[in-house]
Amino acid sequence: MQNASELIEDRTRRTKWYVHDRFGMFIHWGLYSIPAVDEWIRNQRRLTVDEYQPYFDHFNPQNYDPCEWARLAKQAGMKYAVLTAKHHDGFCLFDSKYTDYKITNTPYGKDAVREFLEAFRAEGLRVGLYFSLLDWYHPDYPHYGDMHHPMRENEAYKEMHHDFARYLKYMHNQIEELVTGYGKLDIMWFDFSYGEMTGEKWQPHRIMELVRTHQPDMIIDNRMDGGGRRRGSILTAEPKDYSGDFASPEQMVPPEGVLNDLGQPVPWESCITLNKHWCYSKTDQHFKSAKLIIRSLVECVSKNGNLLLNVGPDANGEIPAQTVEILEEVGKWMSRNGESIYGCGASEFEKPEWGRFTQNGDTLYAHVYEEAVSAVCLPNLSGKVKSLRSLATGDELEETMFWTLTEYIKDHAFFFMNPAFECSYPLPDSNDSVVKIELEKS
Ligand code: GLC
Repeated sequence: MQNASELIEDRTRRTKWYVHDRFGMFIHWGLYSIPAVDEWIRNQRRLTVDEYQPYFDHFNPQNYDPCEWARLAKQAGMKYAVLTAKHHDGFCLFDSKYTDYKITNTPYGKDAVREFLEAFRAEGLRVGLYFSLLDWYHPDYPHYGDMHHPMRENEAYKEMHHDFARYLKYMHNQIEELVTGYGKLDIMWFDFSYGEMTGEKWQPHRIMELVRTHQPDMIIDNRMDGGGRRRGSILTAEPKDYSGDFASPEQMVPPEGVLNDLGQPVPWESCITLNKHWCYSKTDQHFKSAKLIIRSLVECVSKNGNLLLNVGPDANGEIPAQTVEILEEVGKWMSRNGESIYGCGASEFEKPEWGRFTQNGDTLYAHVYEEAVSAVCLPNLSGKVKSLRSLATGDELEETMFWTLTEYIKDHAFFFMNPAFECSYPLPDSNDSVVKIELEKS
């Protein structure tokens, strides 16, 4: 048994690439992509297995081309991707030998997980699988009275007997299939714990044994023990071996990043949808702009975190056009400014009023969001700036001085974003204009 500091040391080693790469793609795709309402549709409408069956019978994504997904992710500047190998409905996108409820038995007939892994690896991206701890299809998963099961209030299921040990065996077998049969996996994203269904209930030691034996470098999220809406054990001073390698705040960016009880930074990743849904939705057009995505990514990095941005391909296997458009714009920004994201983290300097800082060693990146009538102020950086240049163009910028108020501003450094006009408007990139600042070595 490892002690807490050994566990944290191991975690630091395993997450090295992850805290460097910062930006990933989450993919929610399954039978629920056909009704295109919500991946919780069975829960929400209390659908029985039979009522959900037509989607299984018709699942046939003829345009599924994971190479195209991978190209899009790469072009957007993403470095890893996580696909829903199995969501709460229990349907497997992989060819599990422990169930018939799998993609190879649908009209599509092929193992989509294998195809996904091959395609993303070929683009040089890291790969991860989302695996639901809940399973609304398996007869041994609690039905009546469970907090989330579609049959939770259906009296017909009241007397049904569930052998939870048998369910765990099934779940562990499937995890074993994934960690042994699909090559090197970089991430396994377990989802999720609630009520009594948390921690020891999942027999996590067996899971960790499988994970660490077969995929020693693979990282896992923190939802086997708390996480999501609950305070995960990853945040305690004494994390367990199954506490996870990173925290997974959902649909929000934590105000101060994520620290454990000892004040030590914990690797973390905000998972965020592009509209308001994880899976493809026919009606939800409430998309975030590329600008908001770029700034959210910068916000995560400025607080030592990652962004796992979700896409919901449709029932045909296509990523919706609007999503593609947003990701392409994000990609354009990333191709010029990725240096201010990869390998970067929180700055030693406080958040400036006009935007944010990210930092990598002695290089500081100023993400300027606000126009200014005059110069941009770098608070408390007087005498510390070696050079300034626009990251996107490489154009050099110069520090400037003011003869008024000298005494009041002597601690600060200043530069004009638009030197020709001695002002900071208009900004060259309204999404985020990045200035690369080489600092004098301290
Ligand atoms: C939640 C939801 C789920 C989604 C996930 C993504 O736990 O149950 O539908 O897959 O969050 O973080």
